[in-house]
Amino acid sequence: MSEKAKTLYPTKRGDRSKIAIIGAGAVGATLAYACVIAGHASEVVLYDINKQKVQAEALDIAHGIQFTPMSAVSGSDDIEICRDADVVIVTAGAKQKPGQSRLDLADATVGLMKTIIPAVQEVAPDAVYILVTNPVDVVTYASLKISGLSPEQMFGSGTVLDTARLRYLVSLETGVAVQNIHAYVAGEHGDSEVPLWSSAEIGNVPLRHWGPTLSGQQFDTELRERIRKDVVESAYRIIEGKGATNYAVGLAVSQIVGAVMRDEQRVLTISTLLKDWEGISDVCMAAPTIVGRNGAGRVLTPPLTLAERDGLTESAQRLREAARKLGF
Ligand code: 2OP
Repeated sequence: MSEKAKTLYPTKRGDRSKIAIIGAGAVGATLAYACVIAGHASEVVLYDINKQKVQAEALDIAHGIQFTPMSAVSGSDDIEICRDADVVIVTAGAKQKPGQSRLDLADATVGLMKTIIPAVQEVAPDAVYILVTNPVDVVTYASLKISGLSPEQMFGSGTVLDTARLRYLVSLETGVAVQNIHAYVAGEHGDSEVPLWSSAEIGNVPLRHWGPTLSGQQFDTELRERIRKDVVESAYRIIEGKGATNYAVGLAVSQIVGAVMRDEQRVLTISTLLKDWEGISDVCMAAPTIVGRNGAGRVLTPPLTLAERDGLTESAQRLREAARKLGF
């Protein structure tokens, strides 16, 4: 670490803090950029097998540190660069092509994890691990089995991004700041995800009591379904237009990293190994969970309607089947 790199937040190892990002593609590089801007750690490192690309991405970000909180940024194709990281984020994997679902990537990405995870574990055994690679729920489940780590220490980014997309759309409908939309998406980060409408609030008003939106419509079944569809199709539309999503996912994962580094105990819809959550077990999928320095904590149990419960059970089944198909 450079002499100049200063401590921003105390961590287990005292005054130094380090974030390691695996994969310097669009998501990995944008996440590194977001973490540096947020000042989450005194050191941010990128690892990728493409040496030229990883060094170039790191250098491009490092040139900007005059404008950000102090941190040292570097990139390498040597896994050693991740040694003693406090948080490791895995973004490496196959790219979703237009029209492909996240689950279509399972075979390729889970295979990759069998190589990547043990290699990183070797140099950063005590890190909190955040999986971002899609299909994130299946990748998280497989990585837990591969690594033998606890579900507290290793979890996935889940539907933190989908939750942000939902809040954005409700904010547009109501004209209320996105920060005051308290609504969550749970289940698969993908086609079968479930917006938890029945517990959604705008400010402290339950969404079902909100009344007409800016366009005069009620939050009825039709509007909710339109918003759900919009959330589910967001990534497909962006991939169609520019080949990948990177900005919002970078910010969403940066928020998870911040919750860990600063021990925030923030409620985030990360993907964790569920144990009898709403009757669901032995699958990784998103549920509102408290996140802090020790990783994934308590999973909240919001009130659910029968339809929401059924939707979540179906989502779990779909993810379980995808994992089983791959031998997990
Ligand atoms: C996203 O939802 C593709 O999972 C990525 O943006």
